[in-house]
Amino acid sequence: MKVIIIGSGLAGPVLALALKQRNISCKIFEARDKAAFEGGFVALAPNALRALDRVGVYDRISNQGWNYEEFQFVSSRNLGRIATILNGSQNKYGYRALRISRGVVRQTLLEVLREQQIDIQYGSKCVKIEETDHSTVVATFADGHTEEADILIGTDGIHSRVRNYIDASAIPTFSGQMGVGGSLPKMKLGPEANTVYMPCMVLGKLNSFAFMPCDYNGTRIGCFATIESQERTREEWNKLQSDKDTLQAYMRSHHEHERWPEIVHRASENVDKDTLTLWPYYSVPKLESWSSASGHVVVIGDAAHAMPPHGGQGSAMAFEDALTLADTLSRIMDDRTTTKDGASASESEFESDLDLPHALRPWQTARQARIEKILAFTARSGDTRKASASTLRQIFKEWAMWAYFLWVGEDAGLSWIYHYDTNAETFGKS
Ligand SMILES: Cc1cc2nc3c(=O)[nH]c(=O)nc-3n(C[C@H](O)[C@H](O)[C@H](O)COP(=O)(O)OP(=O)(O)OC[C@H]3O[C@@H](n4cnc5c(N)ncnc54)[C@H](O)[C@@H]3O)c2cc1C
Ligand SMILES: *[C@@H]1O[C@H](CO)[C@@H](O)[C@H](O)[C@H]1NC(C)=O
Ligand SMILES: *[C@@H]1O[C@H](CO)[C@@H](O)[C@H](O)[C@H]1NC(C)=O
Ligand SMILES: *[C@@H]1O[C@H](CO)[C@@H](O)[C@H](O)[C@H]1NC(C)=O
Repeated sequence: MKVIIIGSGLAGPVLALALKQRNISCKIFEARDKAAFEGGFVALAPNALRALDRVGVYDRISNQGWNYEEFQFVSSRNLGRIATILNGSQNKYGYRALRISRGVVRQTLLEVLREQQIDIQYGSKCVKIEETDHSTVVATFADGHTEEADILIGTDGIHSRVRNYIDASAIPTFSGQMGVGGSLPKMKLGPEANTVYMPCMVLGKLNSFAFMPCDYNGTRIGCFATIESQERTREEWNKLQSDKDTLQAYMRSHHEHERWPEIVHRASENVDKDTLTLWPYYSVPKLESWSSASGHVVVIGDAAHAMPPHGGQGSAMAFEDALTLADTLSRIMDDRTTTKDGASASESEFESDLDLPHALRPWQTARQARIEKILAFTARSGDTRKASASTLRQIFKEWAMWAYFLWVGEDAGLSWIYHYDTNAETFGKS
C-alpha cells in the first residue's frame, strides 16, 4: 500500500511515524520550504504527550518546555485564586502538561523523520487531487509534478486543499476573536511575577490574559490575550502576522476598557516584539465524512476539525487522529493478508475490491464522537471567559466558578480527556 501525506505541520509527521511503526511506508509533501520555523507556543496535555510518546518523540521534547500540573484562574481584581485545575499529573495520568514552542515540537518531529528515513518533499504545494478508475489517487503539485498513491491523507491544516476535494462546502468560519501571544524574560514582569502562581489565567470583567512559563526552567514567560476582531482575508491575516508593532498595539488595546493589575500592563509593554504571534480563531464546520466516497482520500487534524483554543486540545486531537488512523490502516492490511492468504497480496497493487469506506467507518465514527465532546467542552471553557457587565457580576462569576470547580473535584472533570489511550481504542469491536 502506498500512502502519501499532504502537510508536515504537527499531524503529518506523527502520522508518518505511526505508519512506519506499523510497517506502512509513506511519503510527505509540504508546501513550505524546509527552513520555515514558526513562532508561538502550544500547551500539550497528557493525551497529546501519550501520543507523542508512542512515536518516540516525548523524551526528546519534555526537557525543552515547562512541565506543570496545576493551572490557576485568578481574579483581575486582586490576583486572588479563583480555581485550580489539574491540566496534567504524573500520578494520575502518567504525564504532566508541557508548555513548549510549537517550532521546537515540529523541528523535533522532522528530525526523527530524517533518522527514520521517511521521505519529505518541501516546497511541494498540492494544488489538485484526482481519483483514477483503478482505485488510486493522483496529486498534482504547484510545480506541475504529480504523484500517484493508493491512499492520500490530508494533514494540511485549517485551509486544507484536501478537505476541499472531499467537501468543497466546508468553509472555516471565523469566531470573532483572535489570540495575540508573545514571550519575555520573567524578570521584566516586575515583583508580582514572584507571587502570582503560573501558569494562570487572569480573568477580568470583559476579558482574560494568560501567563505561562514556556521554557524548562521557567525564566521565560509566555503571555496571551484574546481580542475581539473583525474578519480578514488570508492575505490580511498574514500581513498582520508580520506587523509586530500592530500586534503589540492590539495586545495593549486589550486593557483599555477595564482595570488590570500592573503585571498585565508590564507584560504587554515589555513583551519581546519579535516573539509576537497571531492566532485568529476559525472552526471547521462538521464534515459529513472525513474521506472521499471511495475512502482513498482522507483528512485528519485541523483539516478535519480545527477548533478554538479554549480547551487546549487542537494538537492533541490531531495526534490521536494520526495514531488511530495508522492502527486502522494497519488492521485493514492485516485483514487483507489473512483473508487473501498472504501469497496473493501483492506489494505493488492495492486490491481494488477492498471496501475502504466500510473499513474506515468505525474509526471515523469513534473519532467524530470524541471530537464532538471535545468541541462542547471547548465551548464551555470559552464561556467561562465571557464578559461580565459590572464588578458585581464579575464577583458573582468568580464565585460561581469557584463553586463549580469545588463541585467537580480535583480533576476538574477532565480525566476523560486526559486518560484517553489510543492503544485501548477498539472502534466498537471489543
Ligand atoms: C498560535 C497557535 C497556538 C496554538 N496553541 C495550541 C495549544 O496551546 N494547544 C493545542 O493543542 N493546540 C494549539 N494550537 C492548534 C494546533 O497548533 C493545531 O491544532 C495543530 O497544529 C494541527 O496540526 P495539523 O498538522 O492538523 O495542521 P498544521 O499544524 O496547521 O499543519 C498543516 C501543514 O500543511 C501545510 N500545507 C497546507 N496546505 C498545503 C498544501 N496545499 N500542500 C502541501 N502542504 C500544505 C502547511 O504548510 C502546514 O505545514 C495552536 C495553533 C496556533 C496557530
Ligand atoms: C515490521 O517489520 C519488522 C521487520 O520486518 C518486524 O520485525 C516488525 O515486527 C514489524 N512490525 C509490525 C507492527 O508488523
Ligand atoms: C535554563 O535553561 C536554559 C536552557 O535549557 C539553560 O541554558 C540555562 O542554563 C538554565 N538556567 C538555569 C538557571 O538553570
Ligand atoms: C487546562 O484546563 C482548562 C480548564 O478546563 C482548559 O481551559 C485549558 O485549556 C487546559 N489547558 C491544557 C493545556 O490542557
